[in-house]
Amino acid sequence: MSEVADFKPGLEGVVAVETEIAEPDRDGGALRYRGVDIEELVGKVPYEKVWGLLVDESLEPGMPDAEGYEPPLLTGNAPSDAQAEIARLSGVWGLGKLHQISEAQARDDLARLSAELMAIVARSARVADGHDDSIPDEVVAQGKTAAEKFLLRWRGEAEPAHVKAIDTYWICTAEHGLNASTFTARIAASTGADAGAAMSAAVGTLSGPLHGGAPAHVMPMLDEVAAMGDPARWVAELLDRGERIMGFGHRVYRAEDPRARLLARTAEELGSPRVETAKALEEAALAELGRRHPERVLATNVEYWAAIVLDVAEIPAKLTPAMFACARVAGWSAHILEQKRAARLIRPAARYVGPGARPLSSLS
Ligand code: COA
Repeated sequence: MSEVADFKPGLEGVVAVETEIAEPDRDGGALRYRGVDIEELVGKVPYEKVWGLLVDESLEPGMPDAEGYEPPLLTGNAPSDAQAEIARLSGVWGLGKLHQISEAQARDDLARLSAELMAIVARSARVADGHDDSIPDEVVAQGKTAAEKFLLRWRGEAEPAHVKAIDTYWICTAEHGLNASTFTARIAASTGADAGAAMSAAVGTLSGPLHGGAPAHVMPMLDEVAAMGDPARWVAELLDRGERIMGFGHRVYRAEDPRARLLARTAEELGSPRVETAKALEEAALAELGRRHPERVLATNVEYWAAIVLDVAEIPAKLTPAMFACARVAGWSAHILEQKRAARLIRPAARYVGPGARPLSSLS
């Protein structure tokens, strides 16, 4: 039997897989996809080509268009709609088990699912807005990029500033190593489950506020700060209550999150009216977190400025976890394929710390 390593709560610092996909450079504050810095990608290639870079190590052909699948029942709760419908597509499309199909087939399954997840989220957002109709495919097809098509499918229109905001956000958050949802996707893939099962498991994991949901909490924070007019006092009171400031701190980066820097720049370029309050709160938060936690770097993370950029595109706060899921289809797909290649079941150990052997009668 192999040796059992020390227990690390939250698996912090535990190397569970080797990957060639993305390199978050924790001290230098850079993020590279297959070696290419995200700073080089934003504004030059659209998200669907970045999907290609991450999954195929080639910009071409990139992520395809959605096929026009009409989900039978959408609730308007986008993460749960995406999770349920992606799982359902395994059955509708008859997807093969990952350990029984070729790599090319698995890649094509993931490409179809990725495009469809975006379409499902767009349709779900339309339901949440109170519409009971769908935008005709010919209208969606007029969009040139995945971001434009997403907005057309949701709202029937796509303003250029909104397209840019979403495309930039999706590229910045397309992949980030072994976070919780990606690990989940790899665990499912390691069992030989089909691509739809692996991707829907990842969507569920991402819906929690400590992973994908932080932007939803950032805008209310900014509203409160603007109403109070005193960011430093707002921060001090929140921390005194033992709460966390959403959008700060990161498990990996011990320097500024490069995605936060890029998104902050985008928010300014797009003329967000929230930038001033966001900067004031950021300054107050960094100062107070630095004072209270001199032992660790608690810097601005991606979700803080992501919230401001998504606000430019008028994305409602409750849709932000699903927007993150749309972005992450690239990273998940790349990792699911990498796990298929690794062909090794992920099965860590648990150390039992419960009661010793005892008779049933001792419970009464
Ligand atoms: N606000 C206030 N305090 C924070 C904080 C935040 N955003 N992030 C970390 N801390 C504090 C914790 O309270 C803890 O203090 P303690 O040791 O006195 O209890 C200490 O820093 C370490 O926290 P821990 O949860 O162990 O750090 P981590 O590296 O595991 O956490 C996050 C990473 C992202 C989960 C954490 O920073 C967080 O909850 N941030 C807010 C949510 C968020 O922005 N999520 C999106 C991530 S991209």
